[in-house]
Amino acid sequence: MTGDLFDALPDAPGEAQPLAEGAWLFPALARADAAALLAAIQTVVDAAPLRHMVTPGGHTMSVAMTNCGPLGWVSDARGYRYAPTDPHTGQPWPVMPDVLRKLSMHAAERAGYPGYEPDACLINRYAPGARMSLHQDKDERDAAAPIVSLSLGLPATFLFGGMTRADRPQRYRLAHGDVVVWGGPSRFVFHGVAPLARGHHPEVGDHRYNVTFRKVT
Ligand code: SIN
Ligand code: FE2
Repeated sequence: MTGDLFDALPDAPGEAQPLAEGAWLFPALARADAAALLAAIQTVVDAAPLRHMVTPGGHTMSVAMTNCGPLGWVSDARGYRYAPTDPHTGQPWPVMPDVLRKLSMHAAERAGYPGYEPDACLINRYAPGARMSLHQDKDERDAAAPIVSLSLGLPATFLFGGMTRADRPQRYRLAHGDVVVWGGPSRFVFHGVAPLARGHHPEVGDHRYNVTFRKVT
């Protein structure tokens, strides 16, 4: 299928696509709520600005990040961890907006994980060229709850691999309003994002937002 044909697909949610056991891609699941979701992200960013965190190895991340909810994911020279306050402002992270929380619960339920109650919500902003190398989400104590991941704005190539870094990842295009859920046997799958291609999204501009929900405690 050509890129043009793909872009011409309708905005309505498509059929759920299984990625692996316990992992699903829901095309356009959040498309109808995109404006409200983007407004909610902006309220979070206004209170807790996006910033480029530094890895324990001293590398500045290309993705700009902030958080909302009881716990926020942070990285610095001391390591990766979840923290109740924003090291930038010294304040608790902004409350997780209802529209975001409910979207994550709805997507988790669709994927077979009812009763999802995320306590951490990481907001990632990708500019062209920004990427996320293959990693596992494993800083969370609760391994039973899935990861829920919302994409808005410019499309990205999502890399979804196996249980070891050496497993060759599958590549999926994630577009505006797409939601991915992975849990159960897929909970610790290696995943990442290829360098974002330049582009312009009519509602979001020159960026991609990814919002990742986790249940940490
Ligand atoms: C992440 O793994 O935290 C981000 C994934 C994405 O941007 O789609
Ligand atoms: Fe991740």
